[in-house]
Amino acid sequence: ARVVVLISGAGSNMAALLEAAAAPSYGAAIVAVGADRRGAEGLGRAREAGVDTFTVPFADYGDRGEWNAALSERLDACRPDLVVSAGFMRILGAEVLERHTVVNVHPALLPAFPGAHAVRDALAYGVRVTGATVHVVDSGVDTGPVIEQVAVRVEPGDDAASLHERIKAVERHMLVDVVGRLAREGWTVSGRHVRLGGTVAQ
Ligand code: GRF
Repeated sequence: ARVVVLISGAGSNMAALLEAAAAPSYGAAIVAVGADRRGAEGLGRAREAGVDTFTVPFADYGDRGEWNAALSERLDACRPDLVVSAGFMRILGAEVLERHTVVNVHPALLPAFPGAHAVRDALAYGVRVTGATVHVVDSGVDTGPVIEQVAVRVEPGDDAASLHERIKAVERHMLVDVVGRLAREGWTVSGRHVRLGGTVAQ
């Protein structure tokens, strides 16, 4: 399966996918890595691995619609079977979502703590357990059908950085596992449920 990964920052999840995809038996080939800003640190890592990169900088477009249309065009050119949002900090519009299946990794157990500050919000709330979720992206913010979740305990003395570090270790592992399964087995989305196997629903 052809996979495009979208990033905004360090790209540690992307790097884990690149490493896994180096083995042909993984079933997914990372055909390109895209970012919403030129300075996304992960882009260099992708280039070093010999993967095509592109940027559709949000700042270059007049409005969200134009940016989404431009991103959609870039994605179409890659002909992906699956798009992975791995630390991509932008809301994707209908232009993209109607044409591609997009999965996202989120650093909390959804539906708890959606949004850009999930780790900080979980700590502030005082939960003893949080975690990570891989889900299909829909038009809401972190609201799409859940594919997989793993719990992470909040330890005494945790701050946002230490907790996020442990969550990211779990995210990498889960994302590599889920993307490989989707690529090898295909998937169908019906309502809130994602079923692995069967025909690849585009
Ligand atoms: C991850 O924790 C992701 O869930 C969150 O941002 C972080 C991105 O990290 N939305 P990286 O760019 O994959 O290193």
